[in-house]
Amino acid sequence: MDKVTAMTSPRPRISKAVIPAAGLGTRFLPATKATPKEMLPVVDQPAIQYVVEEATAAGLTDVLMITGRNKRPVEDHFDRNYELEDALRRKGDSERLSRVQQSTALATIHYVRQGDPKGLGHAIQCAEPHVGDQPFAVLLGDDLIDPRDPLLTRMIEAQAEHGGSVIALMEVDPEQIHLYGAASVDPVADGVMRVTGLVEKPDPADAPSNLAIIGRYVLDPGVFEVLDRTPPGRGGEIQLTDALQTMARESAAAGPVYGVVFKGRRYDTGDRGDYLRSIVRLACERPDLGPEFRSWLRTYVSEEMPQID
Ligand code: G1P
Repeated sequence: MDKVTAMTSPRPRISKAVIPAAGLGTRFLPATKATPKEMLPVVDQPAIQYVVEEATAAGLTDVLMITGRNKRPVEDHFDRNYELEDALRRKGDSERLSRVQQSTALATIHYVRQGDPKGLGHAIQCAEPHVGDQPFAVLLGDDLIDPRDPLLTRMIEAQAEHGGSVIALMEVDPEQIHLYGAASVDPVADGVMRVTGLVEKPDPADAPSNLAIIGRYVLDPGVFEVLDRTPPGRGGEIQLTDALQTMARESAAAGPVYGVVFKGRRYDTGDRGDYLRSIVRLACERPDLGPEFRSWLRTYVSEEMPQID
């Protein structure tokens, strides 16, 4: 569609976000034996709350979480807790009271259970009855995007301008590409790429580029029909990347697919090392905790760490 047509018949505003949250969190065992990995704190807020805040900051006020067994604490976190609220009110602790209430007021949150966890593609299929026939966003909980470097808003704008689906891409060290979906692209305009091919977690030698898919997507609802006919791929799971590969190659199959390259701050809380780095970084920058924590960290690095090395 050219720009003039796009302006005269605006695309429907995207309002729905889907957050897959059914993973087992095996990399964080035993912490995740009875606690969902989405509830692990990043400083003093569960990781999943940052993701919901990102969705609402981009104007997505209807959030669907795809959950599974043991995910009740996620639902409780976004629900009211009257007993706790009363206790804080009685103590006159209005600051904590407002922080406790904040997660409830963020968005309208819906839940659907995935049942058998058969991969990210399968999780997205579970969203179809809720999403209907409008484009929608998908946010993966392991990726935290720094709110100072908005990505989702750029992706929603790119989808409004170009149509199709939009994925988030980031240059990674070529040796790390086997951890991600990898994309081949052609430039279009203003940092937007046309995706010409995708491979899920390739061997570095076979990777089409070092452009990795990071966990943000704006998807055309045609993805559901493509997912329905996508056979299990890597790991025996239905892979979203495989469906997007079909869409990228056949425009008639709900394509095309575009990529927005992200150069901002991203924290991978699904990896233990990155999780720790995220907490240190975010704690250093917090106005309330930062000054004292930074001063402790400086001393630790200069005086105690040399003894460990
Ligand atoms: C998923 C996707 C992969 C993407 C990654 C981003 O993999 O399948 O294409 O690069 O998220 O975090 P996962 O990390 O869930 O195995």
